[in-house]
Amino acid sequence: MGKMDLLVVGELNIDLILNQIQGFPEMGSEKVAQKMDVVLGSSSAIFASNIATLGVDTAFCGKVGGDDFGHMVKETLKAKNVDTNFISTADQLQTGLTVVMNYDQDRANVTYCGAMEALTMEDIPWDRGGTFRHFHLSNYFLQKGIQKDITAIFKKAKAAGMTTSLDLQVDPDDQWNFDYEECLPFVDIFLPNEAELLALTGKGSVNEALEAVKPYTNTVALKMGMKGGLVCENGQVTEVKAFVNDQFVDAIGAGDSFNAGFISKFLEGADWEACLRHGNLMGAINTTAAGGTGAFNSLKAVKERAKSQFDQEI
Ligand SMILES: Nc1ncnc2c1ncn2[C@@H]1O[C@H](COP(=O)(O)OP(=O)(O)OP(=O)(O)O)[C@@H](O)[C@H]1O
Ligand SMILES: [Mg+2]
Repeated sequence: MGKMDLLVVGELNIDLILNQIQGFPEMGSEKVAQKMDVVLGSSSAIFASNIATLGVDTAFCGKVGGDDFGHMVKETLKAKNVDTNFISTADQLQTGLTVVMNYDQDRANVTYCGAMEALTMEDIPWDRGGTFRHFHLSNYFLQKGIQKDITAIFKKAKAAGMTTSLDLQVDPDDQWNFDYEECLPFVDIFLPNEAELLALTGKGSVNEALEAVKPYTNTVALKMGMKGGLVCENGQVTEVKAFVNDQFVDAIGAGDSFNAGFISKFLEGADWEACLRHGNLMGAINTTAAGGTGAFNSLKAVKERAKSQFDQEI
C-alpha cells in the first residue's frame, strides 16, 4: 500500500448554529433565531476536510457516538475524501455537539463533548503509523482521554517516522494544563494563536512568550488574526502579513484553514515564508463564507476565490 500524506487525530462534533437571534439568551425567557444550520463542527475535522480539499491525502482518527450525528460527521468527511476508517463508534455514547449562538462578529458556544472524550492513545492506528508522512493533533483540552498521554503520543509519532504538528486550541477551563517543556520537543510545528501562547506561558507579550517556549520548540507557527502569521525557529522570525478581505462573513475555522494551508505547503517541502503565505491565504478565504468549510467545497472553488478576491494563483 502506498504512503498516505496525513493522519489527523482529534475531536469530532456537529455544530448547531443559530443566527439572527432576537437578543441574548435570558433565564426564564424565550428568544427566537431566524436561521439555523447543522454542519460539521470541530477544529480537527475542519482542518482535515479543508486540507483534503487542497489535495492532501488525509485520514482521520476520532470517536463518535452511535447516533445520527455520528453518521453525519463520518459521511460529511467521506464526501470531502477524508479516509474515515479510523473513526470508531462508541454505541453507548453520544456524538459531541456545539450549540453556536452567533451574533455578527462574535459568538457564544456551548459544547457537549460526548464521545470525543473517550478517544485514547490506544485508538490511534500505530500499526499503520509508518504509512503516513505527517501526524497532526488538534484541540487537546477538549479530549480528556488523550491528555495524560500527549507526550507519549508525539514521541511515538516521531518514532514511527512522521513529522508532527499540534494546535492546542483554547482551554475552556482556563487552566492550561499542558506540559510544553516535556511535549513540544516532539512537535515539529506548534500552531497556537497569540492569546493561546500568552495564556500557556503566562507571559505579557508575544516576544516574551516565544522566548519562554524557545528551548522546547522546533518551529512555532503563530496565528495573529488580521495581522497574519509568523514562524519562529531557533529565535529566527519570519513574518507574513494577512490578506485584506473586504468581504468578511465570519472567522469560524479560520485558524484551522490557516493550519491546512500551512501544513499542505510544508508537505510540499516549501520554505516558511511560502507556508505562511498559503496559511494566511486559506485563513482569509475561510472568512469569505459561512462556517469553517463553506469556502472549501472544492479545489476549483478555492482556486477561483483565491484568484477573484485575493489575486493569487494556487
Ligand atoms: N478578517 C480576516 N481577514 C483576513 N485574514 C484573516 C482574517 N481573520 C483571520 N485571517 C487569517 O486566518 C489566520 C488564522 O486566523 P486566527 O488568527 O483568527 O486563528 P485562530 O485564532 O486559531 O482561529 P480559530 O478560532 O479558528 O481557532 C490568520 O493568521 C489570518 O491569516
Ligand atoms: Mg485556533
